[in-house]
Amino acid sequence: MQACPLPKPSEDGDFLEAVLSGLRRTRRAIPPRFFYDARGSQLFDLICTTPEYYLTRAETAILNQFGAQMAEMIGASCVLIELGSGSAVKTPHLLRHLDRDAVYVPIDICAPHLQQSTQQLNRQFPAMRMLPLCADYLQLFSLPIDVHPNLRRVVFFPGSTIGNCTPEEAVRLLRQAAHLTGSNGALLIGVDGKKSPEILNAAYNDTAGHTAAFNLNLLTRMRRELGARLDPDGFSHYAYYNAAPGRMEMHLVSRRRQVIRLRGETFHFEEAATIHTENSYKYTPQEFQHLARKAGWHTKMSWADRDGLFSVQYMSLTAGEPRHPSRQAR
Ligand code: AVI
Repeated sequence: MQACPLPKPSEDGDFLEAVLSGLRRTRRAIPPRFFYDARGSQLFDLICTTPEYYLTRAETAILNQFGAQMAEMIGASCVLIELGSGSAVKTPHLLRHLDRDAVYVPIDICAPHLQQSTQQLNRQFPAMRMLPLCADYLQLFSLPIDVHPNLRRVVFFPGSTIGNCTPEEAVRLLRQAAHLTGSNGALLIGVDGKKSPEILNAAYNDTAGHTAAFNLNLLTRMRRELGARLDPDGFSHYAYYNAAPGRMEMHLVSRRRQVIRLRGETFHFEEAATIHTENSYKYTPQEFQHLARKAGWHTKMSWADRDGLFSVQYMSLTAGEPRHPSRQAR
């Protein structure tokens, strides 16, 4: 495996800035990208194993069943750029159908996670060229991906991580993806669908408490990395489906009157005051296709799990045939 070619993104200043500006707001909020320190990444992996968090299982089933078809459609000889690759457990279902000259570029903000998963994939696919990039994929524009100009570039964005962007941010990111792939490129993207609030609420409130720990870890991280003076036990995890915007929301709720002190500033919390930590937008296939069109992407194919909870969509920048057929797993 090659060493991470970029230094760990200089997050610390960024984290401090984001926390301070987020806590100064009337509606307090901290962006979800700060969940993913080493502990947060581990907790996210645990969430993916819970019976309630159906997203990972559904997407894995789709990739497992249709990986060969996907490889054929995107072109088995390609540069596959995975955004937010994390532990990349689903990726082998696709990589095993790619040609030997394909290049895999996993991008993740968490350096230990990225190195560990690339090493693992390297053992599984020793002939495949892998170029891990430790970076924030939200800065897609500035990434130094300069390999094989003659191979088709395909952005692989699984996990419905696109749902963690607002629709406006999502369009911006998809435009950057289009810029990165060039006009003959492709996008293979996992999208979580709208469904009953019971299923959604359960998925973000697992009984093992991993999602709660993931959310609360943000406070521990603020204390450890920024020297914030706060009591993590003074907050609790709250996640619910907000039907009007069509998104799951996660919040940290103050259990009592208290303060957070950070770099000379004091932030007062009344009981039940919240810090909004994540949105996870859910899209019908039509809604997502409409959104992606604003960034120039046309849906060519869509695969769903057998319960219709989740879909993986193949998109290209050229209009025309084939017209969105869709396949459902058996
Ligand atoms: C990474 N992302 C797609 C997850 C989601 O479902 O929004 C993060 C997560 N938050 C709580 N559980 C999982």
